[in-house]
Amino acid sequence: MRYRKFGKQDWEVSALGFGCMRLPVLEDGKTINEPEAIRIIRRAIDNGVNYADTAYMYHGGNSEIVLGKALLDGYRAKVKVATKFPLWKVESADDYDKTLDNQLKKLQTSYLDYYLFHGVGAPGWERVLKFGLIKKAEAAVEDGRIKNIAFSFHDSYDLFVKIIDSYDKWAMCQVQYNYFDVENQAGMKGVKYAASKGLAVIAMEPLLGGRLSRPPEKVAKIFDAASKKRTYSEWALKWLWNQPEISMVLSGMSTMQQVEENLRSADNSAVPLSAEELKTLDQAQKTYRDLIPFKCTACNYCQPCPSGVDIQWNFELYNRGYIHGKTQLEDSRKTYATLDKTGAQLCTGCAQCEEKCPQKLPISEAMPKVHSVLGENKDY
Ligand SMILES: NC(=O)c1ccc[n+]([C@@H]2O[C@H](COP(=O)([O-])OP(=O)(O)OC[C@H]3O[C@@H](n4cnc5c(N)ncnc54)[C@H](OP(=O)(O)O)[C@@H]3O)[C@@H](O)[C@H]2O)c1
Repeated sequence: MRYRKFGKQDWEVSALGFGCMRLPVLEDGKTINEPEAIRIIRRAIDNGVNYADTAYMYHGGNSEIVLGKALLDGYRAKVKVATKFPLWKVESADDYDKTLDNQLKKLQTSYLDYYLFHGVGAPGWERVLKFGLIKKAEAAVEDGRIKNIAFSFHDSYDLFVKIIDSYDKWAMCQVQYNYFDVENQAGMKGVKYAASKGLAVIAMEPLLGGRLSRPPEKVAKIFDAASKKRTYSEWALKWLWNQPEISMVLSGMSTMQQVEENLRSADNSAVPLSAEELKTLDQAQKTYRDLIPFKCTACNYCQPCPSGVDIQWNFELYNRGYIHGKTQLEDSRKTYATLDKTGAQLCTGCAQCEEKCPQKLPISEAMPKVHSVLGENKDY
């Protein structure tokens, strides 16, 4: 295992971290296969992984319980443990302590190394401010229940910078970042900004939830033609490790084979990419990008929509289904079905958003198209 600097903190993190959002499940597709999950988490730790990430809501609340069990028998002392506060559930400031205490119990630990505000976006950040949650977090640091305050992020670069600049004790931020998401959300600009401010930066969804392990044919061909042979997953992970601003790559591994492969990749993580390899990745990135039908960067400048349409999320679901094929399209349709207050069907075509969109996307024409594909199951 290779180790890397963790922002300005005085310890080194393994190049690979274990994300517990996609643990192995039983045939019902839901229940965690506990013995197997414990086996693969421990295998990773035995091979030098020293960071595990979970959250209140993963696997219906059971991820924390299973991670807690995996960390018995002396494993807790070998890893930093991170979990997250579910901002969308908070109704009063007291919820912070209640939730944290419950999570500590589930994880069978007396303290968390990192406690993150989960998936911060504009509404989540408003809640942090409204309920004074930073003060609550600081009190939890004071009484020893948490060691560090951090956040995970899903919104625009501008908000990302604002959040970083609003508080000077963030230890770390966790962003969705991979060679496909260079300009989405915080993006490469955000990663560099956070690192320049001394925050440790964790790249989550490094394989875009597994989609970069099975890239579209056009992209796969570029990697296949490269003289350096490695798996599609390793190409994606190497792209991240090649950036000094990234402290750790947090992969969610679901099988022992994936753990073994990613551990091997992490062993090679300190070998820099050659100019030729960077060119291959650059080509793959551009080809991928060209496949995106609506090149929304999720800047959210289009907001607020008078009808409440979450424009970037509708584009994201549509694009994912288009680029990544049938299974992803089914997932996108399922998610779309839950957007009763924010779905594309609510678009009235007023086009106020189009004046504000820096990409000049034809949003009012696009939303009915998004709805026909995702809501009415029509073809692209
Ligand atoms: N807002 C937040 O805070 C937030 C959001 C997302 C994630 N996270 C955290 O970040 C972690 C990482 O995100 P992620 O789970 O999306 O990570 P990821 O590494 O992008 O995706 C994990 C999936 O990739 C596939 N995979 C992993 N290694 C592979 C390999 N060597 N070969 C082939 N396929 C491989 C597996 O999918 P298949 O088995 O389906 O092929 C696995 O379930 C999560 O587990 C979670 O802890 C946090």
